[in-house]
Amino acid sequence: MSAIKAKNIPTVFIIFGATGDLMAKKIAPALFHLYRNGKFPNLFKIIAFSRRDIGLEGFKEHLRTILANKKGKQFKKEDIEAFLNFFEYQQGDFEKVDAYNTLASYLGNIDGEWMACSNKLFYLAVPPSNYRSIVEHLKTSGLTKPCGPDEGWTRVIVEKPFGKNAQTALELDLLLADLFQEEQIYRIDHYLGKDMLQNILSFRFNNDLFEDSWDKDHIEKIEIRFMENIGIEGRSTFYDGVGALRDVGQNHMLQMLAFVAMDQPKTFTAGDVRTQRAEILKKLNTLSPLEVEKLTYRGQYIGYKEVEGVSPKSTTETYFKIAASISSTRWSGIPIILEAGKELEQKKEIVVTFKHREPCLCPPGVHYKNKVFFTLEPKEGITIEFWSKKPGHGYEMEKQKLSFLFRDQRKKVQYVEEYERLLLDCITGNQLPFVSTDEVKAMWNFIDPIIEAWDKNKVQLVEYKPKTKKVITDSLIVEKRLLE
Ligand code: BG6
Repeated sequence: MSAIKAKNIPTVFIIFGATGDLMAKKIAPALFHLYRNGKFPNLFKIIAFSRRDIGLEGFKEHLRTILANKKGKQFKKEDIEAFLNFFEYQQGDFEKVDAYNTLASYLGNIDGEWMACSNKLFYLAVPPSNYRSIVEHLKTSGLTKPCGPDEGWTRVIVEKPFGKNAQTALELDLLLADLFQEEQIYRIDHYLGKDMLQNILSFRFNNDLFEDSWDKDHIEKIEIRFMENIGIEGRSTFYDGVGALRDVGQNHMLQMLAFVAMDQPKTFTAGDVRTQRAEILKKLNTLSPLEVEKLTYRGQYIGYKEVEGVSPKSTTETYFKIAASISSTRWSGIPIILEAGKELEQKKEIVVTFKHREPCLCPPGVHYKNKVFFTLEPKEGITIEFWSKKPGHGYEMEKQKLSFLFRDQRKKVQYVEEYERLLLDCITGNQLPFVSTDEVKAMWNFIDPIIEAWDKNKVQLVEYKPKTKKVITDSLIVEKRLLE
């Protein structure tokens, strides 16, 4: 459904946890951008639900501060004020039914005023420990009942982490399934809202240059890198409980892999694309405990344990490398390298290295290999590395690049653009950039055995100096072992 149609969908957006961190960092700035870009439906209201007893005026003041402090462009005061007019505030305890009843009558009044059966979008911007009481109360207060069979939908948005392992993810799914069908559940992984990920599909399936060689016969390895120069930025309690693999590996990086490795979907619809993403993720080979020892590496930056809120005895990884593989006719035997770390040189990219045919017209011992880089950061774009003859006499080769720069990401404000796009997709009902339950399951099935072995200390936790390259070169060992 197009953004133009979205304008004609009367929608009420209900945010649970509206005074929290998620709202401040991601949801409020993204909603503001949607508003500024004229993307709100013609009939639209946002109900901020929170425990804090600050009233609508107090909440508006809170939002003013958030938007005024947001990095990037300065927002105009009159725009902020007009935006704030879309909000209503509902104070309430997630555990108590009264607030939900008030909310229900309030929603009824909005429909009466609009003379419409509005669509309801519930955003669970709260820790997963609050999900159960919210879902149960939504159910008992009848808040998610549509007005009629064809009138008004309800949808729910949930955030990563989707559980802590396969078992807890399943429990979460069962809880949501009590009230919502899979088509109503929008699981956010903001990486799916990134242009470059969506661009991988365009690059692969709208061009004929590479797709015929996009397989094990022509490709030597796929590397996914997720290196960040930042540390854990005030999120110590959360981060120390999850670690790098759960924080970015289980979700963002496996989604990057899905885009680069999946088969062509039959159509560019949510159903077909999500099915293909899930299919390739299911084919990731799970590692046995012995393989985890051999094929994974984990590290922690020096100074991490001193961060406020981190346990002084923490064994949480802030860096990992995994040499993985996929069992499929397209990819069997090809190394898939997943590497991520905090406090390192900023680099988020996918590198696809091609094989060089034999016999090779190259000097003994040398192979000229082509590489395709899908870079997310620091400069978003696509680069193809190829070999060219050096000008002049002789036949010496040199590496050259064909580059397409999409954008310089250093100027971008983190999360806002992705959330803006994803929120609009929720309103229009496009589930393509949201994670399906099958994907969640497949991703945990791959991650769980690694975390279990790490928890048993089967793989030594190596300390590394912030900004070092050493941890990156030392961990190359896992890649070598995969090829042994
Ligand atoms: C988040 C992780 O999901 O993604 C953070 O929790 C990470 O640790 C962030 O820094 C990276 O997002 P982006 O869009 O800046 O690449």
